[in-house]
Amino acid sequence: MFFFFFAFASLCNNVDAVTYFNVIDYGAKPDGVTDSTYAFINAWNGACQTEGISQVSVPEGTYLTAAMNFYGPCKQTIIFENEGIILATENLAAFPTLNWIVFAYLDDFKLTGHGTFDAQGASTWGLNDRTGITFPTSIQLSFVNNSRVEGITSLNSKMFHMMIFQCTNIDLAYINIIAPENSPNTDGIHIGLSDNIKISTSHISTGDDCVSIGPTNNGVTVENVYCGPGHGISIGSLGKYETDFDVSNILVKNCTIVDTMNGVRIKTWQKSFALTCKNFTFEDIYMKDVSNPIIIDQEYCPFQFCAEQDNPSKVKIEDMKFKNIVGTSKTPVAINLKCSRLEPCKGVELSNIDLHYQGLGKSESTCINVASPIVQGNVYPTVCGSQLASMTT
Ligand SMILES: *[C@@H]1O[C@H](CO)[C@@H](O)[C@H](O)[C@H]1NC(C)=O
Ligand SMILES: *[C@@H]1O[C@H](CO)[C@@H](O)[C@H](O)[C@H]1NC(C)=O
Ligand SMILES: *[C@@H]1O[C@H](CO)[C@@H](O)[C@H](O)[C@H]1NC(C)=O
Repeated sequence: MFFFFFAFASLCNNVDAVTYFNVIDYGAKPDGVTDSTYAFINAWNGACQTEGISQVSVPEGTYLTAAMNFYGPCKQTIIFENEGIILATENLAAFPTLNWIVFAYLDDFKLTGHGTFDAQGASTWGLNDRTGITFPTSIQLSFVNNSRVEGITSLNSKMFHMMIFQCTNIDLAYINIIAPENSPNTDGIHIGLSDNIKISTSHISTGDDCVSIGPTNNGVTVENVYCGPGHGISIGSLGKYETDFDVSNILVKNCTIVDTMNGVRIKTWQKSFALTCKNFTFEDIYMKDVSNPIIIDQEYCPFQFCAEQDNPSKVKIEDMKFKNIVGTSKTPVAINLKCSRLEPCKGVELSNIDLHYQGLGKSESTCINVASPIVQGNVYPTVCGSQLASMTT
């Protein structure tokens, strides 16, 4: 009995013991003008090398910083809590690797707090439009496993707000992403080469895709997310590079998409390498003022060089479900399925869809190269001969 009690008490102590590393103690100045980069990095390094649960704390105040790499591996659990406003300098020379904040090589990490990461992107957006120059991503997680991002706000990124790259088992929740509708390339959360990523209960208003899922991803869930303005929730563009591999098991559920260019989109390059998209479900989605609510575009070809007639996309699209999707479309074509002549889409299922064109006239649909689509329940606009399909099923 005594032994049991002793063991239990010491376990509790371990669980509660958090060692704090306040950036102020490392020389950070909450005045918005003094460069606090090294204070942040030194606080991180102290925390990372400490056993048990260690936490970098950024208290209220405004901190000016340049590029910061927060690397592991760390001794054990590490938390970064931001309760302040962290600013990225407007001086682009301060970001040699085109990232502002990178968390990398971590396991059991948490990024949290009610604070804001403000990249002050407005100063570069003017240069960011079609010039081919790339600008820093605000927050990147690379090679991070079993970790969580919650509560934080990313404001006015110079380019992408967040990038999840080669990560496994990451939960992102209660996140706010904010940039104006006309800010170029400010994707909300981009996911690449990752496994089992979940984004939930978050609000994304930005100038490009709210969530973009690139090649080589398995298991992405986007749930209870509000998106808009922005370009919607997008998978792609896929197939441009030989190193682009399959995208599988995507679930987008209970989302609200308002005033965006696209709703849910799958986009593959017309001239492409081969890969497979498999098992995507889009369900319980409300859309308002969306230009292209449901779109599969396998003819993506932004530059003329790939537009040769005999170059249909080699990307296979299989097992796509669109269920319970309602709202309004800003253009007449509310459902636009343009699959590849070489690899027609297979296992496409549409059920209970009601997407009204908000202008004069009816909404319309396009259905090209879709092999035996299944259309069930009420689907408006009619798509892929849906009246015929529902009569024969
Ligand atoms: C993360 O998981 C991958 C795949 O399981 C593994 O190769 C890698 O070493 C892990 N990284 C860390 C930092 O634990
Ligand atoms: C759907 O998302 C909204 C907004 O995030 C949330 O309030 C609601 O509880 C969610 N519904 C379900 C069934 O999860
Ligand atoms: C399809 O994807 C969903 C969502 O990620 C997953 O829960 C389900 O198990 C997958 N189905 C198959 C057959 O792999």
